[in-house]
Amino acid sequence: MDSNEAAVELEQLTKDFSIGLQGLRLRAVDSLNLRIGRGQVYGLLGPNGSGKSTTIKLILGLLEPTAGHCRVFGVPCGQVEARRLIGYLPESPYFYSYLSGRELVRFYGRMAGLEGARLNARVEEVMAWTGLADAVDRRVETYSKGMLQRIGLAQVLVHEPELVILDEPTAGLDPAGVEAVNTLILNLRDEGKTVLITTHLTDQIQEVCDRIALLERGRLIVECAVSDLPVNSSRYLLDISRRSPGWSV
Ligand SMILES: Nc1ncnc2c1ncn2[C@@H]1O[C@H](COP(=O)(O)OP(=O)(O)O)[C@@H](O)[C@H]1O
Ligand SMILES: [Mg+2]
Repeated sequence: MDSNEAAVELEQLTKDFSIGLQGLRLRAVDSLNLRIGRGQVYGLLGPNGSGKSTTIKLILGLLEPTAGHCRVFGVPCGQVEARRLIGYLPESPYFYSYLSGRELVRFYGRMAGLEGARLNARVEEVMAWTGLADAVDRRVETYSKGMLQRIGLAQVLVHEPELVILDEPTAGLDPAGVEAVNTLILNLRDEGKTVLITTHLTDQIQEVCDRIALLERGRLIVECAVSDLPVNSSRYLLDISRRSPGWSV
């Protein structure tokens, strides 16, 4: 593992959205500079609306930046080559519920370019890895919330991405579900993968993250190693989050 290599580099990354009439614009991501080293588990934090999901969509190339640049392992975001390196779990994933778990993960594997024996092997591997081996033939509509989250992770990992992006992967999960997600993240780190995660759970940050960035109104206000966070990190993060909102454009 080359820890000096950048998995993600954001340079003055900015995204404005047009909102409503009169050409009103909202700056969702504001001149963001960030570097995530290969092999890190990186927490992107901030209150609702602070620009976390927009930053992720820029990294995925789903949105075009208004200004600035982003790269994934040196490849400009938006290029197919960059997208292939990424596994992505959206904030509120929607799955075709009439498929079985196996069919669903196969579908995503094919979309990512896997086929034949390799596809078959990877599907069984990730289903086992996410603890769904017993549920492969069940229709996804019968899955519990925790199982849906795990099938989401299986889908993320099927093509062996180098960078795994999880947008609020523990939202709505019970403690056992949170622990299962944490274990998966730590396993990914052991394999040398890079993980970018958004979360509101300070315990989870302490448990899995190496570094964090805190966003407020699209701006980076804190970037540090988790070990450098104050002892009462939830209080500290909450106090910053409680600053009054207001937009900069
Ligand atoms: N497609 C969009 N059009 C207009 N505004 C958007 C769009 N997507 C996000 N926003 C706004 O950008 C800001 C940041 O949103 P988001 O990145 O989703 O925040 P977070 O993920 O941190 O909760 C919010 O004010 C949100 O309403
Ligand atoms: Mg979000």
